Amino acid sequence: MINNKKHVMARLIVILCIGVGIFVGACSMIGSDEQIAMTPPAMPGAEYVGSETCAQCHEDESKYFNLTDHASVAIDITAEDAEAGQAEACETCHGPGSLHVEGQGDKSKIVKADAQTCFSCHLDIKGKFALQHRHPVLEGQMSCSDCHNMHGSDVRATGGAMLLGKDEKCFKCHKEMKGPFVFEHDAMREGCSVCHDPHGSISDKLLVAGQTTTCLRCHWEVNFNSSSPSLGGKTHDYFIGEGVECIDHHRAPHGSNIWRTFNR
Ligand code: HEC
Ligand code: HEC
Ligand code: HEC
Ligand code: HEC
Ligand code: HEC
Ligand code: HEC
Ligand code: HEC
Repeated sequence: MINNKKHVMARLIVILCIGVGIFVGACSMIGSDEQIAMTPPAMPGAEYVGSETCAQCHEDESKYFNLTDHASVAIDITAEDAEAGQAEACETCHGPGSLHVEGQGDKSKIVKADAQTCFSCHLDIKGKFALQHRHPVLEGQMSCSDCHNMHGSDVRATGGAMLLGKDEKCFKCHKEMKGPFVFEHDAMREGCSVCHDPHGSISDKLLVAGQTTTCLRCHWEVNFNSSSPSLGGKTHDYFIGEGVECIDHHRAPHGSNIWRTFNR
């Protein structure tokens, strides 16, 4: 059941329930924190050939792939479908590749992975994309690979989550947040995801929490009793108590060229 090439499989077991109607509970689980029911992409009549075979023709996608978590993901095929073999690495997303290989790269015989492929394993992310505020991936305006490098060519430079250059990927589409600003907000150094959930959120603007709550995560020391001329003699407490959000006053949370306190 477990392919113990790496810790990954101990933490997250990908199970294959062949046949319709078999649900998670029916599968045997071995010591995992996270249980995932997974149906690998299908390609009728094809068998699994293994990643080494793919590498013969797809050097670019294979070169750095071993640095990604996905390289050590494997799905065992249950007895009912034993002749199909085991889905590993490339074929967990692209489906069994024998017909594609026999057809010298026949495109119609290999699965083109999309968000639904990912969701079969990443149920938590699927949940995020079902929330009210989300990046328009399911709407077809962008894809997971706008932010994630599926084959790991720059994994080494960026660290976790196979991200394309940490925040650089965000700037591809949101240039105005890049700065530089005369007055930088130190929060930005920790990356966009200290304030935004890149996948989806119940809060407006993909904020990780309600507006003021997001700010208070770091600014817990804010002196609510202090007043200042710019607050018209009122205290921070007054504003928050009245349901006014921090950003109603600090309107430029990404940085400002005018105000040290990001009022605009
Ligand atoms: C975690 C899922 C996943 C795994 C594992 C994976 N891929 Fe992909 N692959 C994708 C996605 C998603 C795309 C579409 C990328 C895009 O839209 O830019 C893709 C695209 C491709 C393409 C088409 C590239 C192009 O420019 O059109 C090839 C070829 C490919 N993958 C080969 C491989 C090989 C070989 C492996 C194993 C070394 C592999 N993939 C492993 C998800 C995966
Ligand atoms: C004999 C060489 C060969 C082997 C082996 C091979 N491929 Fe391909 N593959 C190709 C060629 C050639 C194309 C591009 C076809 C085109 O662009 O018209 C391709 C295209 C693809 C695509 C893009 C499909 C699309 O719709 O754009 C994916 C994904 C892919 N291969 C995955 C794999 C995986 C996974 C394996 C291993 C199971 C594999 N390939 C093995 C030759 C091969
Ligand atoms: C707008 C950019 C963006 C898009 C689109 C995106 N992601 Fe992410 N993803 C991120 C960022 C940024 C992180 C790192 C979050 C962090 O550091 O807390 C991440 C982290 C992850 C992780 C690691 C676990 C976690 O929750 O942090 C998984 C798994 C993941 N994304 C899957 C997906 C899938 C599947 C899709 C497509 C359905 C997708 N992502 C689309 C930006 C994106
Ligand atoms: C067969 C199951 C499976 C599929 C399909 C799959 N993943 Fe994963 N993914 C995993 C596992 C297992 C991990 C490791 C999770 C862990 O360590 O907690 C992982 C990790 C990740 C990470 C985090 C990597 C890091 O360095 O933190 C991202 C991002 C991610 N997957 C995105 C995707 C995207 C995007 C797709 C679809 C194109 C996808 N995954 C498809 C099983 C899968
Ligand atoms: C491929 C382009 C693309 C990339 C890359 C991208 N975004 Fe977006 N982003 C969009 C689109 C499109 C929307 C939706 C805009 C709309 O609905 O008006 C959006 C919306 C948002 C919103 C909500 C704006 C609103 O008005 O509700 C935030 C916040 C955001 N993105 C942050 C990020 C972060 C952080 C990253 C990097 C992790 C990122 N984006 C990467 C295209 C992108
Ligand atoms: C300190 C918290 C914080 C950080 C860090 C942060 N943002 Fe934001 N962002 C916000 C808040 C708060 C809003 C809502 C502003 C509003 O509603 O006026 C916002 C709004 C946005 C919007 C929507 C803009 C609009 O005019 O509607 C985008 C896009 C965005 N952020 C992208 C990013 C990107 C990209 C990064 C990383 C480079 C980033 N943010 C980092 C707090 C943050
Ligand atoms: C990830 C932590 C973090 C988050 C979240 C965060 N900040 Fe900050 N902020 C900082 C740090 C660090 C500084 C610089 C040190 C300081 O002045 O306290 C700073 C400085 C500021 C300043 C300038 C204070 C001064 O007197 O110069 C303002 C105003 C501010 N933040 C507003 C906000 C608002 C509004 C939000 C919510 C949208 C927010 N911050 C969210 C970390 C954060």
